[in-house]
Amino acid sequence: MIHFRVAAALVPAFMAATGLMTALPSDATGARGDVPDVSFVVAPYLQLPAPTGVTIAWESNRALPGRVEYGRTVVLGQVAEQSDETVLHKVRLSGLQPGTTYYYRVRTGSLASPVYSFRSAPRAGSQHWKIALYGDSRSNPVIHRAVAEQIARQHVDLILHTGDIVADGRVHESWRREFFEPLGELAHSVPWISTIGNHENDAPNYFSYVSLPGNERYYGIDFANVHVACLDSNGWIERGRDSPQFHWLEEHLRDKREAGWTFVVFHHPLFSAHASRPINPLRWEWAPLLLDPRSGVDAVLTGHDHFYSRSFPIGRVTETPTQGVLFLTSAGGGALLYRSKRRDYIALERSVHHFTLLEGDGDKLRVSAIDLNGNVFDRHVVRKGPTPTADFCAYEIEEVRQFLRTAIASARPFEIPADETGTVDGVLRVPTRFSVPIRGTLRWQTAKGWDMAEKERDFRIEPGEPLEIPLQARVAPGEYTRTPRLRIVFEPGRFRNRTIEVSPFKVCGPERITVPPRKTDRGTWSEAPAHRLISAATGASRGAVQLLVDANSIHISVRLGQLPESSVKTVRDDADAPECLLGGEYVRAVFRDGRHVWTFEAGARSRSACSRDGTENQERSWRCAQRANGVDMVVPRAIFAPGSQLRFTLVTRRLQGLVPVDYELCPAYIPAADPDLIPDWKPAVAERDALIIEGQASGHGSG
Ligand SMILES: [Fe+2]
Repeated sequence: MIHFRVAAALVPAFMAATGLMTALPSDATGARGDVPDVSFVVAPYLQLPAPTGVTIAWESNRALPGRVEYGRTVVLGQVAEQSDETVLHKVRLSGLQPGTTYYYRVRTGSLASPVYSFRSAPRAGSQHWKIALYGDSRSNPVIHRAVAEQIARQHVDLILHTGDIVADGRVHESWRREFFEPLGELAHSVPWISTIGNHENDAPNYFSYVSLPGNERYYGIDFANVHVACLDSNGWIERGRDSPQFHWLEEHLRDKREAGWTFVVFHHPLFSAHASRPINPLRWEWAPLLLDPRSGVDAVLTGHDHFYSRSFPIGRVTETPTQGVLFLTSAGGGALLYRSKRRDYIALERSVHHFTLLEGDGDKLRVSAIDLNGNVFDRHVVRKGPTPTADFCAYEIEEVRQFLRTAIASARPFEIPADETGTVDGVLRVPTRFSVPIRGTLRWQTAKGWDMAEKERDFRIEPGEPLEIPLQARVAPGEYTRTPRLRIVFEPGRFRNRTIEVSPFKVCGPERITVPPRKTDRGTWSEAPAHRLISAATGASRGAVQLLVDANSIHISVRLGQLPESSVKTVRDDADAPECLLGGEYVRAVFRDGRHVWTFEAGARSRSACSRDGTENQERSWRCAQRANGVDMVVPRAIFAPGSQLRFTLVTRRLQGLVPVDYELCPAYIPAADPDLIPDWKPAVAERDALIIEGQASGHGSG
């Protein structure tokens, strides 16, 4: 059988020329008097494609019955009707021939559409098909229209939308403006199925417009020789391994099916090329099931991060090579693009508006990424069978990275003496989940002042064993600028992502600070010990803090160190008031007296604030002043609980370029937002504060 297509736009002209145009034009409604004209809010679009059926939907401005005339020629001849009076019409056509072109026209009251055409879904098991994958079509109808025009050129059988269809799913008008109208002719001729994005806002509009199987949030649908399982990855639904959705997916994937290809589709990527948020925590919940060879998943297709990215095949390490799973993000349908970043598991990423063409070709799946100009910027072929080890990315390695982060975050910091050589002796135990023995080497990169006990050590991990990292070094006195970095290099020939870089030493400064009494003369400051402000994120020591007490107050003097030349900008409101802090930078003194946590903050442009237990406080008796090279604060002792042991830490946030870096008096760390840095340091409000002890004027700081 020869399949042919008539461009939908040409059909009315063809019909008029052949005398077949019997319908009233859609703008000539014939409605008169006080009855408003009937018009389309959303012109006809196609849902629930099947080899023998399809649902034709449209929205009218008046609640009326609906009718679809259809047939294999433009003469139409068959009718399907919906009798209830509604504005959102959904009429199911059944008894179709698979993979066959049909023509149709919809009518609502006096309104009739032009005649459009579509092709019914291919016969079940068909090995040749075309699917357009895209997402995040929201917010920019002009770009969405350009993407749709490129999709239209490929004559696809189905559109698969990865979510964030519109900017705010609750706004009814946005569906027409951002989605349906930019789709143009494509909407009338190609069916689409979708997953729900966060921007749909779980709105009733989404569930009104779509017709999907099951509960319409998570469902499976067969198309040709593809099985598509769509999930709801949004925060409004339970997603964990105990959730009904996860149990549904487990059972759904376990059921044996005939599909040649299995795609799992949802909005939020698990292995992202996003510059600053590669990990959605859902990764640790869903990836183990998706990567299990028994699940038979070939590709995981997502949106949300506005770019294109294709992963290397990801899977679990076994003795013999297995087939990895492709993780593809296609989210360039209109929304503002995001910055992307190549990571170990990313084969190609491009921050560009685009769609992805998936083509079934026998035992091959062809992937092409196509931009707004029709340029193909990625071509890739997925084949069944074991993935070559040079391409295979081990999921266990990504787990090790995560376990490293949490192991370091929960480790006790090493205390580094300020004025004598210190010894660091410990071990970092990092859980692993390899099911086969794995070998590798620990290689230390030296850091100034650090003398590692071993420069290099081989290791072998048996299944279930932790990776043990010896942390043994002598540390010279003085200002340390950087902790040693470790390269964990796994054996070659097993998988691609073989190297992890980590700074595993968690260090802290002095924990006890003896605070000298303040004398009346100004020379006191020169006698008060200066305590370093340190940051393990960049290593450099920037600034120092001095403390003094008298009967009424605690006096704090912060000297801010010079930042690297390239990152320094001079900000002055006027010549007499030099600012030492830029916008976004601050000096923050935190006190705990056992009853409350008090925070005193001085920011850029003389901004200052005080809070107690996280709530803004109007305490007026504290003072702060900015100087050219630092900040002075005076905090009244009367606010603290009488007789309490006062714990204290001081954080300065500086900008190095655009990156905020925190320097702290006694740092303890929790993971921060950039998981590419291990550990991704961030000062914690933790129990590692300095204990302030009142002492003699000559008393010395650390101990
Ligand atoms: Fe999103």
